[in-house]
Amino acid sequence: MQTQRNHPTNSPQSTPSNAETEFTGLKVFAGVITLTVLATAVYYGLFIGKDLRQIEPVYATRAASSASSAAPAPAPASAPASASSSTAPATAAAPAASAASVPVAATPARAAAPAAAVATSFAPPAADKIPDGPMGDMIRKGEQIFLHTGQNAREFVGNSLNCVNCHLDAGRQANSAPLWGAYTQYPAYRSKTKSVDTFSERLRGCFMYSMNGKAPPDGHEVLVALEAYAYWMSKGSPVAEKLPGAGYPKLAKAAQEPDFARGSKVYEAKCALCHGADGQGQRSGEAQVFPPLWGPKSYNWGAGMGEIDKAAAFIKANMPLGLGNSLSDQEAWDVATFIDSHERPQDPRFTGSVAETRKKFHDTPMSKYGLEVNGKVLGQSGT
Ligand code: HEC
Ligand code: HEC
Repeated sequence: MQTQRNHPTNSPQSTPSNAETEFTGLKVFAGVITLTVLATAVYYGLFIGKDLRQIEPVYATRAASSASSAAPAPAPASAPASASSSTAPATAAAPAASAASVPVAATPARAAAPAAAVATSFAPPAADKIPDGPMGDMIRKGEQIFLHTGQNAREFVGNSLNCVNCHLDAGRQANSAPLWGAYTQYPAYRSKTKSVDTFSERLRGCFMYSMNGKAPPDGHEVLVALEAYAYWMSKGSPVAEKLPGAGYPKLAKAAQEPDFARGSKVYEAKCALCHGADGQGQRSGEAQVFPPLWGPKSYNWGAGMGEIDKAAAFIKANMPLGLGNSLSDQEAWDVATFIDSHERPQDPRFTGSVAETRKKFHDTPMSKYGLEVNGKVLGQSGT
């Protein structure tokens, strides 16, 4: 006997027609597509919807690496991640990574650089190529100070930042003021100090302003170690030649005047997830997993990042983490304006008067210091 089939064919004996097979195939295909689209939408929806679970892998990785970093002991044969500057495995958005799979190394996980976007002519030596011996020990010490500044140079740091927070990928990443792009540029005249500064003096500047701390005295081991690290990273680099990828790429003026309100919307949508709605970043115990962008634990008013054009350039090239160059120029200018319109530690060059300090050191449209924003004159905290 024949089994009664459900499909509406004329002959009960016939198998489904070709057309029908095709139709079923099409339905399956459409189903798969729909599911894929839905899953993607849900994933990105959650991400943009600030669901913390989506950044948990990055968070866990960073927390774990910070926790294992207190030991000043050098980490030989470091993370395989550092073998090449453009192939870091942990990406900001990788939902599959787990804390357990993180290589235990002192090098923090970082988002993969947008490999194709950065054309550099120079590649620094791999992290596991640091030589043995006393010179190697000093280089490793410098690396550890660079990565975990608060732990390894505590007396000179006055906030919760580390050098690597603004010089990504252990100072390797092109377009985030990499060490290999900096070392061979000094001595150099700097308008900020109005003098010809050595590399070591340039380092002292980042301690005073970006790290809101104290400049280590000339010849201090912290400076020697950092200089040794930068020197080693510049191996094979031409001296006194500005390399592509050095510094932060200058950002062209945006079409519209940068705007606080628009910037706050960009911030909420694309930055708050990691840096917090209040801009204070995120901590895990002792470890600062995501760095603060303003407030008492951030860079002070004298820092380069406090200048809107520098912040916009850094942000455009490097943020959101792992998604560099995804913001429009306008968004980068707007969000930089928003961030640098918040209160932060006093400029160490403070003269006793905000107005006077502005006139002396911040007389530029790129600084909001001493200006009124939302009814409050900035630059008054800690005064
Ligand atoms: C808050 C962000 C921030 C932090 C933290 C920070 N820096 Fe910087 N650093 C900058 C900015 C901004 C510049 C200027 C880049 C430019 O003008 O292209 C800079 C410049 C430099 C330069 C010169 C780069 C060049 O191309 O001339 C060196 C070297 C440097 N920093 C080292 C350090 C060290 C070492 C630390 C930690 C002790 C540190 N920085 C911490 C933001 C930061
Ligand atoms: C996925 C998490 C994540 C997102 C999203 C993100 N950041 Fe960051 N950001 C970081 C991390 C982590 C660092 C430090 C990098 C390091 O240590 O390797 C950082 C560093 C920074 C810094 C320099 C350090 C400091 O504290 O001043 C600035 C400025 C910054 N981010 C701005 C932004 C802006 C603006 C956005 C949104 C357009 C954004 N970030 C989105 C994770 C993120």
